[in-house]
Amino acid sequence: MKISVIHGQTHKGNTYRLTHMLLEQLECKKEDISEFYVNGIGLCVGCAQCIYKDENLCPHRNGMLSIIKAMEEADVIIMDSPNYCMGMSGQLKNFCDHLGYRWMSHRPFDMRKKIGVGIATAAGMGAGKTAKAICSQMSWWSVGRTFRLAFALNAADWEEVSEKPMGKLKKKIRKLANKINRSYGRVKPGFKTRALFKMMALMHKNMAWNEIETAHWKDNGWIS
Ligand SMILES: Cc1cc2nc3c(=O)[nH]c(=O)nc-3n(C[C@H](O)[C@H](O)[C@H](O)COP(=O)(O)O)c2cc1C
Repeated sequence: MKISVIHGQTHKGNTYRLTHMLLEQLECKKEDISEFYVNGIGLCVGCAQCIYKDENLCPHRNGMLSIIKAMEEADVIIMDSPNYCMGMSGQLKNFCDHLGYRWMSHRPFDMRKKIGVGIATAAGMGAGKTAKAICSQMSWWSVGRTFRLAFALNAADWEEVSEKPMGKLKKKIRKLANKINRSYGRVKPGFKTRALFKMMALMHKNMAWNEIETAHWKDNGWIS
């Protein structure tokens, strides 16, 4: 199982810890895990060249290439972020913005057989909302099956988390790891992905608002 991990923060705090608790239980070799940090990617300038013309015109393309390659090769894509003001970190959102052209509404890379995991932590509230937002990005890239792992510490730091919630968290991680280990190699995209993919195919066939997008869907054999 090949895993690509995209961290929405550079420090190794609560979120990094949670991600690694999951990684330890996934059936894969260490060398099959590639980890990336997205802080170094320049801020999206909104030129929209990636959508309208060619993603290689993006001024930050070089910073994206190795991550994109790893994601394409991965069976499981994990993205994590602490909850910052009820959402993912700005740097992770910026990374996602650089992949807007890969939404199913534009020119997706086929990720329907991949598993996505959105991981988030919060001091109090909003970890679930953040994990959901991360999974939503992956769903729009066409990732076939997504799982959320969210944890509210309700404590100032990890060492202060009491035994009961930590026990519950470990159980949750074990359950999720089992699901991923079982799903690996036999992912069937869910109803939402299938329906959206079909809808987007119809849109690109009948509306053809952007020639390069229609060509992309044709070249991949998704529309005739
Ligand atoms: C800028 C900023 C905004 C935050 N906003 C929230 C918030 O809205 N709700 C919350 O419960 N925790 C919030 N937190 C706390 C973090 O989400 C929480 O401590 C998290 O576990 C930190 O993870 P880390 O150790 O990986 O950075 C915020 C922290 C920072 C630095």
